[in-house]
Amino acid sequence: MRSKVTVVGAGNVGATTALRIQQLGYTDVVLVDVVEDLPQGKALDMLEAGPVTGTDARVTGSNSYEESSDSDLVVITAGIARRPGMSRDDLLLTNMRITSSVTEQVVKYSPDCIIIAVTNPLDAMVQNIYETSGFPRNRVFGMAGILDTARFRTFIAEELNVSVEDVQALVLGGHGDDMVPLVRYTSVGGIPITELMAEEKIDQLVARTRAGGGEIVALLKEGSAYYAPSAAITQMVEAVLLDKKRILPACAYLEGEYGINGLCVGVPVKLGAGGVEQIMQIGLTEEERTALRHSAASVQELVDVMKKSKEEAAG
Ligand code: APR
Repeated sequence: MRSKVTVVGAGNVGATTALRIQQLGYTDVVLVDVVEDLPQGKALDMLEAGPVTGTDARVTGSNSYEESSDSDLVVITAGIARRPGMSRDDLLLTNMRITSSVTEQVVKYSPDCIIIAVTNPLDAMVQNIYETSGFPRNRVFGMAGILDTARFRTFIAEELNVSVEDVQALVLGGHGDDMVPLVRYTSVGGIPITELMAEEKIDQLVARTRAGGGEIVALLKEGSAYYAPSAAITQMVEAVLLDKKRILPACAYLEGEYGINGLCVGVPVKLGAGGVEQIMQIGLTEEERTALRHSAASVQELVDVMKKSKEEAAG
């Protein structure tokens, strides 16, 4: 029997993700969005690609969650993107409300699912979805690190004129400008990057990686990246559904790991059928530890704003 994945949010990231997951062939997909007819239209279009691409996987669209019942995995991309004149906090609280209501529905209809959060600001949204769901921490995590490392790997491969497949990299911390690409753990065919590239060039590529999302936004003018994000989400979906036990960076709820307690930030994890089956703890230099703490503090600030807003709403 094929497994079932629901993608909430049928915008750029959600729809592209649904298409990629359908093309895996071994899982049916339900696309959910609040906009009337939008998920139905996109789902039908994808379904009609099946005879050409050779997949029997079903794709259905819906404005409610009944269709999504008993999903094995749910990807949450629902939310708004920042528009001119909006503060970061405006985006934060709007997407907090959206992801809270989405999560309540997801939990009601798929109580045993694994949730992959994608909505930005990523780490704060993972925290909100984790807390709202009441799920154990292994079943709620976020996609950011694979995308950030993919950007770093792309730039390194271009610079050295080598295959992207041979570049390995690791990024820690929040999905923001203060993410922490770990140069020490970056290698090309097993060769440390420092053997192949001058420090100055590495620093340039790290800076470009940190600003990678913004670089795409500036080019697209409207909206943000979705091809690479959807590829990253699909890799996580596959790791879970095929119980691959892959070691990948993900945003996970930490309970003391890396000296961080009660906060969702990016760390290397083992992803398999149980979701985050293990948080991989690796040694950090003092400088890396400081950078991670700094990045976690930025996430904590947003989490505090959400907490305050919830307390005010509760009266
Ligand atoms: N329930 C379901 N869908 C919703 C809801 C809701 N409560 N609120 C909004 N949506 C839908 C919108 O109707 C829209 O179709 O979420 C979709 C978002 O799509 P886009 O605006 O195209 O945004 P996208 O580029 O897909 O990004 C989605 O992922 O990478 C992050 O920063 C990005 O937070 C953003 C999210």
